[in-house]
Amino acid sequence: MKARNLLAVSDLHVAYAENRRFVEEFRPESEADWLIVAGDVGEFAADIEWALTLLARRFAQVIWAPGNHELWTPKDDPIQLRGEHRYRYLVDMCRRLGIRTPEDPYPIWDGPGGPVTIAPLFLLYDYSFRVHGMATKEQSLAMAYETGVVCTDEMLLHPDPYPSREEWCWARVESTERRLAACDPDYPLVLVNHYPLVRQPTRVLRYPEFAQWCGTERTADWHLKYRAAVVVYGHLHIPRTTWYDGVRFEEVSLGYPREWRRRGAIPRPARSILLARELTP
Ligand SMILES: [Fe+2]
Ligand SMILES: [Fe+2]
Repeated sequence: MKARNLLAVSDLHVAYAENRRFVEEFRPESEADWLIVAGDVGEFAADIEWALTLLARRFAQVIWAPGNHELWTPKDDPIQLRGEHRYRYLVDMCRRLGIRTPEDPYPIWDGPGGPVTIAPLFLLYDYSFRVHGMATKEQSLAMAYETGVVCTDEMLLHPDPYPSREEWCWARVESTERRLAACDPDYPLVLVNHYPLVRQPTRVLRYPEFAQWCGTERTADWHLKYRAAVVVYGHLHIPRTTWYDGVRFEEVSLGYPREWRRRGAIPRPARSILLARELTP
């Protein structure tokens, strides 16, 4: 029998037919495999439910953290909930499907590479990854509008009932810190967040202005502070392994068909993120 595996993927973007096909055909190698889904499953509530339902049936445990796309309120989605209400709607959907969310007790993986606590996080961003030389969020955003590199979140990701996305982010950072500080100190953590917890991975973005929608400086030391065995993220659509301060960071995105096709005819399957024998940088 195949050893059980902890797998991770993100940015399934199932609005694209090719990506839907990937999800339809995507199977665990062992029935005992777990799957981390680090956000951007899709935009429409029905699409998100379709994909998560399939995955929840196939994997022994699915763990989800939201991406920005799940939090959009597209004008033709019958579910018109905004902001926190939309997030809570998705959390309830996951709970019905037996999927763990950032609102649930953090599960412990005791398979190969474990035991580790898996912490799915929902932290958003606060525009602190500003364009080089820009002193304020306003200046940095103005520069993005000038160059035409503006994240669709500005139109579709509503922060209600918070006054702004950054205030929603700061509230999430605060409540998440309390939860992480209360985790069992004997177990290392797998931190799962749609955005990288540190700024460095955004340095390779083709459009540097996009970094301001990619995280917050408030989490810059979390990989050390909370004993991360590995940090799993997506959002950048640049799948790769990097190391910061000796901690492994895995960008696990599938991305848009035009992106994964550049890497080969078949999309890369989910990444195994804990190995029986640990890698070193
Ligand atoms: Fe994405
Ligand atoms: Fe994203």
